Amino acid sequence: RMNTKKITTSSQALDGLLGGGIETRTMTEFFGEFGSGKTQLCHQLSVNVQLPPEKGGLNGKAVYIDTEGTFRWERIEAMSKSVGLDPDTAMNNIYYMRAINSDHQMAIVEDLQELIVKDPAIKLVIVDSVTSHFRAEYPGRENLAVRQQKMNKHLHQLVRLAEMYDLATIITNQVMARPDMFYGDPTVAVGGHTLYHVPGIRIQIKKSRGNKRIARVVDAPHLPEGEVVFAITEEGVRD
Ligand code: GTP
Ligand code: MG
Repeated sequence: RMNTKKITTSSQALDGLLGGGIETRTMTEFFGEFGSGKTQLCHQLSVNVQLPPEKGGLNGKAVYIDTEGTFRWERIEAMSKSVGLDPDTAMNNIYYMRAINSDHQMAIVEDLQELIVKDPAIKLVIVDSVTSHFRAEYPGRENLAVRQQKMNKHLHQLVRLAEMYDLATIITNQVMARPDMFYGDPTVAVGGHTLYHVPGIRIQIKKSRGNKRIARVVDAPHLPEGEVVFAITEEGVRD
């Protein structure tokens, strides 16, 4: 894993789990049930990528592809203030894109190369959530083949962007907290095997007491096993 750079999550525990933070040249998946904190982590990282390297950032910009309409500028404002960034600058450094359906979502990613070449400061691309449109538009077993085919194309484009432009890509995926769906076999989690063969780092997030969350890395031989606890506070992601 030579020459990868890291973006801090603002939780030392979570950074520790990830070997320093979210990695460039890699696709990272956050998966977990509703309210587990996937979207909050995405907000935090789209702020933190802008930090200088000595504070855990890449002096970079972010692309935030929002498929569910859950992005909040007010959260960016609060999080950026709290890490010492000017909120207006921080908001300007995020390219916000709302994907209204799966075709639109795919088209946005297909066109992204052009934007990244124009603005090489882009060091983070987020798709929150990567699965929701595909699940809604291609439900059930009868659509599994076409859903997987489209998802795989989309995911490989995200992986390729990460590798070509030395940036981090983050995808989120809502997974119901049903034991038969994933606690036994985490690889079954993602849209029914959909992401199974896609390279990258998968982080499972679980709700805990109050604002506490539990994260663990799944299927990453180069990272230590085990769980860490982090919190979602008014200021953002914290220990
Ligand atoms: P889905 O998209 O529904 O799958 O959930 P998610 O995993 O994206 O959850 P999200 O990141 O939206 O986390 C929601 C939780 O974050 C809430 O239940 C709150 O606990 C916390 N949260 C969200 N906004 C704020 C905020 O402004 N202040 C504080 N203190 N906590 C917040
Ligand atoms: Mg969300």
